[in-house]
Amino acid sequence: MVKTINERIDPGTVPGLARGRHAGAPAVRACTGPQPAAAPPAPPALAAHGVSLSFGGTAVLSDVDLEFPTGSITALVGPTGCGKTTFLRSLNRMNDRVPGFHRTGTLTLFGDDLYAPSADPLVVRRRVGMLFQRPNPFPLSIHENVVAGVKAHRLAPRSKLREITESRLREVGLWDAVADRLGTSPFRLSGGQQQLLCLARALAVEPDVLLLDEPTSSLDPVSTEAVEHLLSTLAPAITIVVVTHNLAQARRLSDRTAFFFDGRLAESGETAQVFEQPVSDATRRYVTGRFG
Ligand SMILES: Nc1ncnc2c1ncn2[C@@H]1O[C@H](COP(=O)(O)OP(=O)(O)OP(=O)(O)O)[C@@H](O)[C@H]1O
Ligand SMILES: [Mg+2]
Repeated sequence: MVKTINERIDPGTVPGLARGRHAGAPAVRACTGPQPAAAPPAPPALAAHGVSLSFGGTAVLSDVDLEFPTGSITALVGPTGCGKTTFLRSLNRMNDRVPGFHRTGTLTLFGDDLYAPSADPLVVRRRVGMLFQRPNPFPLSIHENVVAGVKAHRLAPRSKLREITESRLREVGLWDAVADRLGTSPFRLSGGQQQLLCLARALAVEPDVLLLDEPTSSLDPVSTEAVEHLLSTLAPAITIVVVTHNLAQARRLSDRTAFFFDGRLAESGETAQVFEQPVSDATRRYVTGRFG
């Protein structure tokens, strides 16, 4: 049976879709006797199998196999132009309308084909949220920005919207700075504050996965630390994939690291292993700062 992505799946209610770093751990059994057959392992939040991506016939990445375990934080690293953004955007179908874009291979969300004909791209993007390198608030008020997705997807009644705005702005640490100007334009906020606002907007639709493309590259060290801390608290409830050129950040923040190089996934694994005992020579040279 072809599974589809046309409605939200609550991992708390669907067997095999439990969230969290330890979601795959076997339950403690309280009784002895005949045991039921072991449940199949829960699928990872996201997975790529044999994925190749190209623009206008020019290959960007070929034959990528990569899994993102539920509840984990994965860093995508590699030299500029190696395809990190293209790959990230393919994980929530943001490349669909880019002229010349072509994908082969399979990308799944909790085992469901992200590109199945019946998968609704709008639902995919709600479940797999994205934060871009440059903050992109909508030309709406601060309040309307936070609840834009909530309203579009009709996730809450109007009476709840103000509450949602406050709780999400508190979550990202922006409430105190903007509480008295919720009706004003976000473009008067600093770059870091705008990025936090976009994060609040992304979180308001309660995504299962958050994709972040160099989210702190335009932020000062204090805002960077705040965003990193926030991301570390969002996992394991939310599976996180973050592109970064900041190798120290990848090391601090991620459980797993994937290194793209020369049109391929050169290496992936536990972050400590990738940085301390890389298998590929290219990875070793990259993580020791010899290029990139
Ligand atoms: N819309 C597009 N049309 C054509 N080619 C594109 C498009 N977007 C990206 N590319 C090409 O795909 C390749 C990978 O680009 P991508 O932006 O994914 O790299 P990246 O690893 O994110 O780089 P950086 O670290 O500089 O952000 C580049 O050669 C780029 O020119
Ligand atoms: Mg990029």
